[in-house]
Amino acid sequence: MAADGTQELDIARIRAETPGIGGPVHLLACGSALMPQPVVDAVIGHTRLEAEHGGYEAAAMQAEALEAVYASVARLVGAQPREIALLENATVAWCHAFYALPLRRGVRILTCEAEYAANYVALLQRAKREDLRIEVVPSDASGALDVAALEAMIDGDVGLIAITWVPTNGGLVNPAAAVGAVARRHGVPYLLDACQAAGQLPIDVGAIGCDFLSATGRKFLRGPRGTGFLYVAGRWLERLEPAMIDHFGAPWVARDRYALRPDARRFETWENAYALRAGLGAAVDYAEAIGIVRIAARIGQLAERCRALLAAVPGVTVRDLGPAPCGIVSFTVEGAEPAAVVARMAEAGFVIGASDPASTRLDSERRGLPVMLRIAPHVYNTEDEIAGAVAALARSI
Ligand SMILES: Cc1ncc(COP(=O)(O)O)c(C=O)c1O
Repeated sequence: MAADGTQELDIARIRAETPGIGGPVHLLACGSALMPQPVVDAVIGHTRLEAEHGGYEAAAMQAEALEAVYASVARLVGAQPREIALLENATVAWCHAFYALPLRRGVRILTCEAEYAANYVALLQRAKREDLRIEVVPSDASGALDVAALEAMIDGDVGLIAITWVPTNGGLVNPAAAVGAVARRHGVPYLLDACQAAGQLPIDVGAIGCDFLSATGRKFLRGPRGTGFLYVAGRWLERLEPAMIDHFGAPWVARDRYALRPDARRFETWENAYALRAGLGAAVDYAEAIGIVRIAARIGQLAERCRALLAAVPGVTVRDLGPAPCGIVSFTVEGAEPAAVVARMAEAGFVIGASDPASTRLDSERRGLPVMLRIAPHVYNTEDEIAGAVAALARSI
């Protein structure tokens, strides 16, 4: 039994089920993690069916399994299947919710200092077009969104709270549920970017109190690239008109009329990558079979070990924020060119990444951050790999 009361993980089995183990040591789950074998099998299996029977026929043959992907994703986040739309990435999912939400001229959108670039440019676009005001909730001393400051900023003119739960760098876990409590108390719609949280942390949309939640498949969920999903709370389903529709989300029911689907699939279109969907479903089922709580604990332990080792390397500064940093370890190396560090690490057999300040411009400007290096372990990594990576880094700088 582990210290947190959970069952020990069978790391040897998890590694044996990960085809990428044995190649370069992959320490970048926040980019695109290593898929487990069942995900690869699901994608290839469906592709093979398409090759042998035709795409439409393969989808029909697998109709039940493909339908079950909605149930899997819904279980992952504590939602109902009818509240889930399967989409091609987190950005499309986020944008679908954001651009559908009616906001009257002049309203204020509250966001966080760590908001992700893709979301922020969309905020800017709607602000420009519709005369909206974007206001950034300040961070507290730990670097997390200051919930008291958020509460103080709420008035009748706030049309939306849109924040990132786990930013792309900085190790931060924003207080998503505390923000949700404020949003619920004041009846303000709440759009949560859970892109880096899905697969890394347990998610319960009811406990969080968000109205919309977006996530991607390829990061900590270990799904294939080109997958993502959107959760739309049931209370919104019949009220939101997607910014773009087709005859799947909105069947053409009369010459002059369409009828939006009653579920979140009104945000989907007719054509889809069913092989990738099958892979996403397999990824969610695989993560759930291991247990998200246990995955979270393991990622947290590896990341903490990494931070402790990095802190002892001369010239390295760990830049992570928040009271309990997550599995994304962010750091800078004095006098070293980040791209060159990433390249030297690759030569040494370790995959790490760099994150541009423009990905989280508000936070980067506030802290005066350059390009940051990122190490993001997953459940399949080991303490030895972390130690090996940090030793290689120390040698290379
Ligand atoms: C916090 C955050 N939100 C959103 C995204 C966008 O996800 P996607 O590339 O799947 O659209 C990313 C990608 O890195 C991210 O880190």
